[in-house]
Amino acid sequence: MAKKIVHRIYELRSILREIRAAQKTIGFVPTMGYLHEGHLSLIRQAGKDCDFVVISIFVNPLQFGAGEDYAEYPRALSRDAKLAFANGCDLIFAPTVKEMYPQGFATFVEVERLSEHLCGASRPGHFRGVTTVVTKLFNLVEPDHAYFGQKDAQQAFIIKRMVADLNFDITIHILPTVRETDGLAMSSRNTYLNQKERQAAPVLYRSLCAAKEKITQGERDAASLIAYITKLIKQEPLADIDYVNIVDLENLQPCKKISGKALIAVAVRFGSTRLIDNIIVEV
Ligand code: PAJ
Repeated sequence: MAKKIVHRIYELRSILREIRAAQKTIGFVPTMGYLHEGHLSLIRQAGKDCDFVVISIFVNPLQFGAGEDYAEYPRALSRDAKLAFANGCDLIFAPTVKEMYPQGFATFVEVERLSEHLCGASRPGHFRGVTTVVTKLFNLVEPDHAYFGQKDAQQAFIIKRMVADLNFDITIHILPTVRETDGLAMSSRNTYLNQKERQAAPVLYRSLCAAKEKITQGERDAASLIAYITKLIKQEPLADIDYVNIVDLENLQPCKKISGKALIAVAVRFGSTRLIDNIIVEV
């Protein structure tokens, strides 16, 4: 079948009905577009694992708070389509807001507890918007496998919880963060950075790596590590910290001492651009 972009739910469903009838497995990568290597790594993995790869491109208004960048978020469908198709995508679902949220829409999906900290605390309602749209997309695509990036670790863990709790018959894959050569995590939002901010931004990953090194040397105290990361980030005058936190990977609750697997996560503003990054450590 020729590679295609569809905008309507009925078109998506009719194509996928045929794919399923042919006993093909479906891999799915939800995105908000403006694709970069991070997204493409997910698409390529889906292509390796599955017979047919669907991606969605939808800037989901429900997950943006008031005063956030919904209007400015970069949109470039024909550019994205070229990149996606060249990397193994078979079908792009790019719905309008009206198609996803017709008048009268009133149903939301919320994963409790895991949204309390990190980005859940700084962006109220954000994860409710994410889990609602991902539920809708899972119901529309009915994939066998779905792919998410560790870059948005809290999002990926919340979706794993949701899939288990709501009995979606979908295997969730979480793939490593793809980075620029200077360590900056790739993000569609990096395009907002001016030259000085772009030069400053690698401080995030540098600080996370420095904290990991401290842990290797024996440091276990979360408060000391948070203070250390904060100090390193503050050396960059353009960086304005939203949060630096260390949470247990099991429940995403802040931990006092690092034991087992922990997520060290940061969110930092450079001008009006908010960037996030994280690493997983294990002791
Ligand atoms: P978006 O930010 O476009 O990201 C789509 C997927 O790509 C997410 O799973 C994200 O974690 C992954 N990704 C982004 N940057 C990455 C990087 N540098 N390395 C590896 N993976 C990366 O996340 C969303 O869209 C939305 O919240 C969505 C799930 C589509 C729901 O609207």
